[in-house]
Amino acid sequence: MELTPEILSRLEQLEKKYASMGQDMVSYLDGLLYSNSLTYWEYIHLDTLLSLQNPQTDFEDEPIFIMYHQITELYFRLILRELEALCLRNEGNLADWLKRIRRVVNYFKNLASSFDVMVEGMESAQFLKFRMALLPASGFQSVQYRMIEVASTSLGNLVKTGVRDRQPLDATLEELYNVIYWKYGNIEMKTGKKTLTLRIFEKEYDKKLLEMAATYRHQNVNQMYLSSHPEVRENVELKEILREYDLYANVFWPLSHYKSAVRYLDRAPEVIEATGGTNWQKYLPPQFQKVMFFPELWSEEEKNEWGKAGILRMFREKVETRWGKIH
Ligand code: HEM
Repeated sequence: MELTPEILSRLEQLEKKYASMGQDMVSYLDGLLYSNSLTYWEYIHLDTLLSLQNPQTDFEDEPIFIMYHQITELYFRLILRELEALCLRNEGNLADWLKRIRRVVNYFKNLASSFDVMVEGMESAQFLKFRMALLPASGFQSVQYRMIEVASTSLGNLVKTGVRDRQPLDATLEELYNVIYWKYGNIEMKTGKKTLTLRIFEKEYDKKLLEMAATYRHQNVNQMYLSSHPEVRENVELKEILREYDLYANVFWPLSHYKSAVRYLDRAPEVIEATGGTNWQKYLPPQFQKVMFFPELWSEEEKNEWGKAGILRMFREKVETRWGKIH
């Protein structure tokens, strides 16, 4: 076999690489000689992945519920990777901003449009039975969802409505965290008290989320954007994509999710109260929480229409032209 200049150049580079680590290149070439080829199934850990679904019941549709939650959590991880890179290892240039926020919107778009897997994809009678075996667990306890919020905006923007506009300027992170909107989202209708679901979540994650909020206090996406170089801050395309991120994360995904709650759980408030249910009908629709990661990018009219038909009317065409149909 001919040792072409390409091969010799690679060998030289390898020699340098291993020499810099005090290693002998030839031993590593021996390693290459003896090692098995990588397979697809080992690389993506297929067997492990397919062993992670452990239903609590024998209902045929329960694995669908588990797998779609797992798929969603993987997308949340993809989103968090981009947000972490943008906020904590910021390259500061417009190209990086555009690339990362576009990726985030694309992930959220896939999540919002795939929610039919839940809404259409399970037999209602089965769901209503197997969900009883899952209590008190709830998607509400998804910590990655909260991490996306904390990385995207300041805690002050996540405070519950009513208090949000009246927060003292010197409020500590802990004070803001204690009135964050979701602390009011898992309340027993009957007693007005926090549910076990919420209390268990707080015990597990309050400290970690507060630590994260401290790290991201001046480095969340909104703060980074507001303090960025004018070339970034005034870029029309980036402004539009950030607004689309806000719409997908805080209107379109919540609406797709809400549809599944309506499909399976819609009952009169008295019935929910009697069965120890939560206030989800007054909590999940995005028009009630009005969560916005980038409030500075919205007009008063747009804010007033948040989560309602008006916001869809205003943005449907624009968003669908870029990202495809909104569900
Ligand atoms: C049939 C499907 C689903 C139904 C009926 C449903 C129902 C609900 C309900 C009623 C709540 C309000 C809190 C509570 O009462 O526990 C909630 C919250 C939540 N669920 Fe789901 N859910 C479904 C699927 C999912 C999926 C696939 C995810 C993905 C991780 C998810 C993530 C969440 C999150 C993050 C919250 C909190 C939302 C917020 O605080 O704004 N849910 N869900």
